[in-house]
Amino acid sequence: LRAPPCTLVIFGGSGDLTARLLVPALYNLAVAQLLDPGFRVIAVDWQDQNDEKLREKLTVSIQDFAAKRQAHATLLDVPVWTWLRDHISYLRGDFQNPDTYAALAAEIGTGNCVFYLAVAARFFGTIVEGLGASGLTREDGCFRRVIIEKPFGADLGSARLLNRDLAKSLSESQIYRIDHYLGKETVQNILALRFSNGIFEPLWNRQNIDHVQITAAETVGVEARGRFYEGTGALRDMVPNHIMQLLAMTAMEAPSSFDADAVRDEKSKVLQAIHHMPQGNLPLTYVRGQYTAGTIGDRAVPGYLEEPDIDPHSDTETYVAMKVAVDNWRWAGVPFYLRTGKRLSARKTEVAIHFKQAPYALFRDTPVEKLTPNIMVLHIQPSEGCTIQFSAKRPGPIVKLGGVRMKFDYADWFPVAPSTGYETLIYDCMIGDATLFQRADNVEAGWAAVEPALEARAEGLAPIRPYVAGTRGPAEADTLLEGKGRSWLRLRT
Ligand code: BG6
Repeated sequence: LRAPPCTLVIFGGSGDLTARLLVPALYNLAVAQLLDPGFRVIAVDWQDQNDEKLREKLTVSIQDFAAKRQAHATLLDVPVWTWLRDHISYLRGDFQNPDTYAALAAEIGTGNCVFYLAVAARFFGTIVEGLGASGLTREDGCFRRVIIEKPFGADLGSARLLNRDLAKSLSESQIYRIDHYLGKETVQNILALRFSNGIFEPLWNRQNIDHVQITAAETVGVEARGRFYEGTGALRDMVPNHIMQLLAMTAMEAPSSFDADAVRDEKSKVLQAIHHMPQGNLPLTYVRGQYTAGTIGDRAVPGYLEEPDIDPHSDTETYVAMKVAVDNWRWAGVPFYLRTGKRLSARKTEVAIHFKQAPYALFRDTPVEKLTPNIMVLHIQPSEGCTIQFSAKRPGPIVKLGGVRMKFDYADWFPVAPSTGYETLIYDCMIGDATLFQRADNVEAGWAAVEPALEARAEGLAPIRPYVAGTRGPAEADTLLEGKGRSWLRLRT
């Protein structure tokens, strides 16, 4: 189903996100024939650029994009790219100057429009105000929607202020707050897996689950984003948004329908039930780390403090681990352990559901504690699928048990077209489906859940623990899981 005719205005149109992800996503949508023949892009930015220069630059990056995906046999479809390229134009303008919006209004005229804010967060309020003041947000027989990238605020207070500012020019139904994790097929699959099968949901509760581990481990460092990262840190960068989305998808109740608000109501409820545990004993529930020089693969890499644009005495964390409780009837007493970090030993994002042990072992040589723990791992990336781990009888005359795994791999079952993750999100915005976007209360609930951790740092209660680049993170994170034989799943398998 083609999206309706629409102009996509990208603020930050000559930036990195546009070239690296947004235009490739549009190209993929064009290949799939999901864009209307009247679709066009207006890239707005302050740089001295023109249509031709921008198109040339984007041609280079799309060739790069296609080349990287040659393993998937997708060479650039030249006629499709030529069509898309010719529908991209450039408008030079200062985001703070009303003339920019007047020029944009003249260029757009009437008709459907999506405004994509691929800019630094400090411009969000200014741009939306400019759009509102120039009448560009008025929906007279057409739609006018705004997509907002992260970071959405820096804490609960600033997220609330931003929501309030946006509400001056836009109605909630016009606002599409993006979290690119929700564009990942494997993240969307969490709800499909839970709510389209009869076998998992009866076990998905405190009676059967011992604890849950959510991991988003990266091998990359801060790359060229030192300035941004220094003021942000791992907690703000990953937890209130991506990790909380994973938690919400894993722990929410079944919505009454797949209507955007029904899904987002359930997410809000579960996020609002999150509490740090136990209160008042923070060192046991929250660990912050920072990488020092080490090796990734065979490559020596510098420590965080030696990276460009980083204060050599920085207290910014590049790793966090925390233990939270979801205080509701389904999850009372089931800890959720969350961890994310840069420069770890492996790139791996997963949700691991650790089931309770069998109550009694019939097998003389294998006491209950030695049985293979039953763990269901939802692999988000780079593996895509899920595995279930359990005990089985080893062949032979003597009854002995061994640990085994059952595995579902996406690629074995479905032809997976290479994607950026942004295709679904941009398409959904054009067709007006906000299910995969965050509502104001979802974003605020995500921030509220990490507020105790932000306060702990401000009060000096969460000191930085160094870890060597290329390892599993600070050893202190292990103490969060102490007791009952729990331990973090290995990052490298
Ligand atoms: C971004 C963060 O939101 O997500 C980055 O700002 C991080 O620091 C990235 O690297 C991770 O995304 P993905 O899709 O590579 O897991």
